[in-house]
Amino acid sequence: MGRVALVTGGSRGIGAAISTALKDAGYTVAANYAGNDEKARAFHEETGIPVYKWDVSNYEACGTGIAQVESDLGPVDVLVNNAGITRDAMFHKMTPQQWQEVINTNLTGLFNMTHHVWSGMRERSFGRVVNISSINGQKGQMGQANYSAAKAGDLGFTKALAQEGAAKNITVNAICPGYIATEMVLAVPENVLKERILPQIPVGRLGQPEEVARCVVFLASDEAGFVTGSTLSANGGQLFV
Ligand SMILES: NC(=O)c1ccc[n+]([C@@H]2O[C@H](COP(=O)([O-])OP(=O)(O)OC[C@H]3O[C@@H](n4cnc5c(N)ncnc54)[C@H](OP(=O)(O)O)[C@@H]3O)[C@@H](O)[C@H]2O)c1
Repeated sequence: MGRVALVTGGSRGIGAAISTALKDAGYTVAANYAGNDEKARAFHEETGIPVYKWDVSNYEACGTGIAQVESDLGPVDVLVNNAGITRDAMFHKMTPQQWQEVINTNLTGLFNMTHHVWSGMRERSFGRVVNISSINGQKGQMGQANYSAAKAGDLGFTKALAQEGAAKNITVNAICPGYIATEMVLAVPENVLKERILPQIPVGRLGQPEEVARCVVFLASDEAGFVTGSTLSANGGQLFV
């Protein structure tokens, strides 16, 4: 298959699993990352997937980066907006900087990336955009007013853009992972994980990055053309919406 997939934050965590699963499914994959050169180099050496460094919160950098990917690999057919950060704080202690950094990366990053591939997808009458939101965008999470707002915004973005893309065979969907075993979650102290987090998850375990990646592979496929504007929850039964 000749389709090209670009995964933001695709060099580690959930994004690395997504990049690898798409490659295994036959896509030509490019993985973007922000600054962790060491992890990106190791990922590239392990998988052979090319890595590209730019900041998704910078509109111009996204344009330049995507132009490079398209010149190297061809037009982007599948965009996975996965890059995300946390800057947690209770609201009364949250700084404007913590708010802005999370909004800029986790919400505005979707505009910055998607805007640069959208016209090409429209011209070719094919596109798949998959946005990695979060359970905390669905239910809200204390200490994460910034993150919850951005991730809820991702869902509104998904539903609006799905309507615009439908006539051009471009689907736009979101995935809301629950607790997934990545560095982001494994940094939580073990007693908090065991006593407070796991009891909230009916399946009794954290999810694996590969379980989110499988959802992406489905939504990216040509066969998923009738699925658009949807939110797919992958949370071990923690929340039904
Ligand atoms: N882990 C979970 O339980 C969980 C649950 C729900 C939703 N999510 C969402 O799933 C996504 C992936 O999470 P994760 O746990 O895999 O995160 P992670 O392990 O911290 O990896 C984040 C990835 O995003 C990249 N990144 C961060 N900021 C960026 C920026 N401004 N520009 C470009 N790339 C950037 C990082 O690049 P560097 O390596 O260069 O830093 C890295 O590749 C995020 O959107 C997160 O909100 C995660």
